[in-house]
Amino acid sequence: APEIPPANAMAHARQFQSIASSNGGNRAHGRPGFRASADYVKAKLDAAGFQTTLQSFTHQGATGYNVIAEWPHGDANQTVFLGAHLDGVTAGPGINDNASGSSAILEVALAVARADARPTKRLRFGWWGAEELGLIGSKYYVSRLAAADRRKISSYLNFDMVGAKNTRTWGIYTESASLGATFREYFTAKGLATRGINVAGRSDHSSFANAGVEVSGISSDNDPCYHARCDDINNIAESVLGHATNAAAHAAWKLSGIPGRVPV
Ligand code: PHE
Ligand code: ZN
Ligand code: ZN
Ligand code: ZN
Repeated sequence: APEIPPANAMAHARQFQSIASSNGGNRAHGRPGFRASADYVKAKLDAAGFQTTLQSFTHQGATGYNVIAEWPHGDANQTVFLGAHLDGVTAGPGINDNASGSSAILEVALAVARADARPTKRLRFGWWGAEELGLIGSKYYVSRLAAADRRKISSYLNFDMVGAKNTRTWGIYTESASLGATFREYFTAKGLATRGINVAGRSDHSSFANAGVEVSGISSDNDPCYHARCDDINNIAESVLGHATNAAAHAAWKLSGIPGRVPV
């Protein structure tokens, strides 16, 4: 049985669908559906005891936001960072791309809080704005970090499009063999096939890689509704999103040095 119930992350994805539906059908940069998505994530994290920051930036005349959440335990000189872009394109609600990754890491963060975890290293989570317009939010975040603070990030793990129905093979970014092996450990234990993928330049891990941070990430396959109006709640499968969530939890637990298993 999975450590975190798949229904938990799926409930967040349903909330993002509902946010899009009540805000003109999308969650794109500069649109009310994006701001509502950021508020949803931040409220959950604040209630769980995270130190949160809503970082704003301006792009194409509109204000964008990154939501950053830090679990205030463990060695701040060695930070394990999980991230996902929170914005979508204007064409549709952006549920596989990328309410899926946003929901998966939100649920991992909430599981850390439920466990009242005491990791050896520090855990930080980021939900990026304006990824679809050129990785704008994550580039902004990295550019505002002092060099000394950049060096405290031991690894960055990216979650972009992790809920596609009919996924047969999980893609694991090839940038880091050791981080990739941590993800592979989860999928192999579940009997799920993996393959190496290189999506350099196409998602937010690039912003960190360009700053010298060791990066990896995962992605499901085959999205027939990529950047389309039909990328709605029916475009993802709860079981797939559940595996992404538990793969992310496995990596977070293992890399940050939380003792024991991922709790329900
Ligand atoms: N989802 C990315 C985008 O926003 C592209 C991508 C595809 C990233 C596959 C990672 C894996 O367009
Ligand atoms: Zn996209
Ligand atoms: Zn994406
Ligand atoms: Zn595990």
